[in-house]
Amino acid sequence: MHFFAQIYKLCATDNNKFNMSTIHIAILASGSGSNAENIFNYFSERKDVEISLIISNKAGAYVHKRAERLGVPSLTMSKQDLEDSDKILEVFKTFQIDFVILAGYLLRVPKGLIQAYLNRILNIHPALLPKFGGKGMYGDKVHMAVVEAGEKESGITIHYVNENYDEGDIVFQSKCSVLENDTPEEVASKVHALEYKYFPSVIDSIIKKEFGLVNN
Ligand code: GRF
Repeated sequence: MHFFAQIYKLCATDNNKFNMSTIHIAILASGSGSNAENIFNYFSERKDVEISLIISNKAGAYVHKRAERLGVPSLTMSKQDLEDSDKILEVFKTFQIDFVILAGYLLRVPKGLIQAYLNRILNIHPALLPKFGGKGMYGDKVHMAVVEAGEKESGITIHYVNENYDEGDIVFQSKCSVLENDTPEEVASKVHALEYKYFPSVIDSIIKKEFGLVNN
């Protein structure tokens, strides 16, 4: 067990003796941020886990509006800065970030960040990887490709992040049917429903495993 997990267990078993700490999560998002909001809501009553920061590579992304409404600090960082591990790590240090979620984030995660947060960065992909993944496969493009390929099912894949787009170890998948006349929009809405249903609880269980959390 990671030494942090051991410390955390000690804290959790005796709150008076140890200063119990909170797991701080950063969410990286490039677009609307509906998953970011859903994850925030899931953890909003929790004392052991907090959504502490939202970062986007786009100043105009709707996720900033959501962050403002939810009272979560949000930053815009340029593509150049987000490709620089040292810059991101500096920000993460300031916000004491322990765990990172990619939710509709379109940039590649730099190597130094992956190494510093090994097994602590999760992404969600709106299809059943390894199919329909890789560079350029995001958002509606994924659902269009699924429909064009005549797939009978699609779904979500939650996976750890490594240096290649959509190739890290898979931790969870869930499927939905794709009917003959389904449009990409209809597939998108079924996939979104799966994202909202499962992503927060999968994050929760991965965090519990990684940090050895024992109470809410
Ligand atoms: C989701 O479908 C997610 O799976 C994909 O991008 C979309 C983001 O949607 N990676 P939102 O910004 O969370 O609304």
